[in-house]
Amino acid sequence: MARVAVLVATVVLAFLTAATVTAKKWTVGDNKFWNPNINYTVWAQDKHFYLDDWLYFVYERNQYNVIEVNETNYISCNPNNPIANWSRGSGRDLVHLNVTRHYYLISGNGGGCYGGMKLDVLVEKSPPPPASSPVKNSARSSLTVSGFAHQFVIPVAVFAAIGTMWDKVLRLW
Ligand SMILES: *[C@@H]1O[C@H](CO)[C@@H](O)[C@H](O)[C@H]1NC(C)=O
Ligand SMILES: *[C@@H]1O[C@H](CO)[C@@H](O)[C@H](O)[C@H]1NC(C)=O
Ligand SMILES: *[C@@H]1O[C@H](CO)[C@@H](O)[C@H](O)[C@H]1NC(C)=O
Ligand SMILES: *[C@@H]1O[C@H](CO)[C@@H](O)[C@H](O)[C@H]1NC(C)=O
Repeated sequence: MARVAVLVATVVLAFLTAATVTAKKWTVGDNKFWNPNINYTVWAQDKHFYLDDWLYFVYERNQYNVIEVNETNYISCNPNNPIANWSRGSGRDLVHLNVTRHYYLISGNGGGCYGGMKLDVLVEKSPPPPASSPVKNSARSSLTVSGFAHQFVIPVAVFAAIGTMWDKVLRLW
């Protein structure tokens, strides 16, 4: 039974570690998506974006797009010297935040940027483990907690069941 306990502890630890490093996929604008007349500065201001998180843009593909520009062109809504074109044509685009820096994203089409379709995201390095510092971001902490709960309960239940069966097998010998 000692070996089972060690096994359970190892699995729990592995899942705990996995839960704390889970990358988050942010739907830009939440249920309003990528549209004019939304203040994306307000949308982003209470969030922390960490390395390897994703931004998910959902929008009308014939009207808007997702263009990455530098800070100057972000301020002036100028899409003519893009750093990257994240649009793939379906109106459903993922931006992988794989570098710790500012990402300046605008819609270069249809006057979208002048209508507010501009997003400045600062990507931070991965968060410290929750135990060593208070988690400020409520969205992330709820994700981690619920992710943890599912990942925790299932393996513990499974390994407890295996442990019980194992004990019975050993007793038969
Ligand atoms: C969006 O909100 C920010 C922060 O409250 C504010 O500084 C900015 O002027 C707003 N932008 C627009 C276009 O209203
Ligand atoms: C952004 O690029 C423009 C050229 O398109 C350049 O004039 C400007 O200095 C750049 N701004 C920054 C902050 O790098
Ligand atoms: C961005 O790339 C898409 C898909 O390749 C293309 O359809 C679109 O015209 C490009 N947009 C710009 C502004 O380069
Ligand atoms: C980040 O992603 C971009 C675009 O997919 C890629 O060109 C670049 O090499 C990546 N950088 C790192 C550090 O992984």
